Amino acid sequence: MKTEDVKKIAMIGAGDMGHGIAACCLIGGYTVVLRDIEQKFVDRGMAGIKASFDKFKAKGKMTPEAYDSALARLIPMVDIQEAVKDADFIIEAVPENLKLKKSVFADLDKYAPKRAILASNTSNMSITEIAAATGRPEKVIGYHFFNPAVLMKLVEVIKGAGSSDKSIQIAYDIAKKINKVPVIVKKDSPGFIYNRVNIPNGAFLSKILEAGHPTPEEFDAAMKPFMPMAPFELLDYVGLDIGLHSMEYMMQVLSLEYKPSAPLSALVKAGTLGKKTGRGIYDWSQGRPVIDLSKATKEFDLNHMIALQVNEATKLLEEGVADDPKEIDLAMANGGGSPFGPFALAQSIGYCSP
Ligand SMILES: NC(=O)c1ccc[n+]([C@@H]2O[C@H](COP(=O)([O-])OP(=O)(O)OC[C@H]3O[C@@H](n4cnc5c(N)ncnc54)[C@H](O)[C@@H]3O)[C@@H](O)[C@H]2O)c1
Repeated sequence: MKTEDVKKIAMIGAGDMGHGIAACCLIGGYTVVLRDIEQKFVDRGMAGIKASFDKFKAKGKMTPEAYDSALARLIPMVDIQEAVKDADFIIEAVPENLKLKKSVFADLDKYAPKRAILASNTSNMSITEIAAATGRPEKVIGYHFFNPAVLMKLVEVIKGAGSSDKSIQIAYDIAKKINKVPVIVKKDSPGFIYNRVNIPNGAFLSKILEAGHPTPEEFDAAMKPFMPMAPFELLDYVGLDIGLHSMEYMMQVLSLEYKPSAPLSALVKAGTLGKKTGRGIYDWSQGRPVIDLSKATKEFDLNHMIALQVNEATKLLEEGVADDPKEIDLAMANGGGSPFGPFALAQSIGYCSP
């Protein structure tokens, strides 16, 4: 199969990520089957896609013709066999649970055409392990989008131990076609590039909470002038449960230094998860928290965050997960809100030679 042979994409899971990725594929001109386990979840995903397209149309980013054409190519589905029987490329975005993902991939392998490439949107998990549930590891790849998928540019295209170069190339080309910035992750490694480079900062914030000093607001006030969202504010925005889950996973597969601190675990246990529950580290009940910049700590500055990222990014180069600092910078600049990657930032302040 060649990239131009891919006409129909099946999206497995119509949740936050699934409906966003489906929307991107529709905008890119593909026919998309949207599959979830119950009609009500499919309907919610369809409504999410329509809501995004309504906004694009209202802002003039989508013509009425493109709007009609995209929605006409969207096929809702609950039956898994029907959903994938003639799909060329399949993207899975079911919850982050390895057992569930493996059972989904076993079904995809059984029901999808032999030519079909099977891609997982897992945030952290091993593509090689997921591929082991199928009889076609050469056609299984990681395909990591960022939230919200309709807006965020980065797609990590991850090579599992058995993924063929051809499958990676087709996935890369499709990501380009749907207006994303693909970065190839050359080795299947926990957290791939973006999440891995950020995990030490997550651990750092967790330790600051444990130390009780500086306060999150004092710390954020020192960082905020340099970023669209300050670190603790961002942790709240993403969800403390997601941060905790990610650290627990990295602690198991990478290093004990990522063990979450007791205050972070306690906040999650108490259901104070950040923006989505109205309260986390900050109070979000009245909207985005206001951070008083006059409270900025002098103890820490942006260089500490950059240094942590550069250290971890250097490990990725040493381990062969990426072989070019520019690719890591490209991933970091397109997966988050920063216009620069850590190597470029470090270079600009004299941390690394060009
Ligand atoms: N939310 C994020 O910020 C984010 C970012 C990048 C990657 N991811 C990854 O994307 C994946 C999905 O995350 P999400 O946030 O969209 O989760 P979600 O809970 O919003 O959506 C998951 C959907 O999958 C459905 N589902 C469960 N079992 C299924 C099955 N067997 N077949 C089809 N659908 C099934 C659920 O009903 C639900 O609608 C996870 O692996 C997550 O780690 C999430």
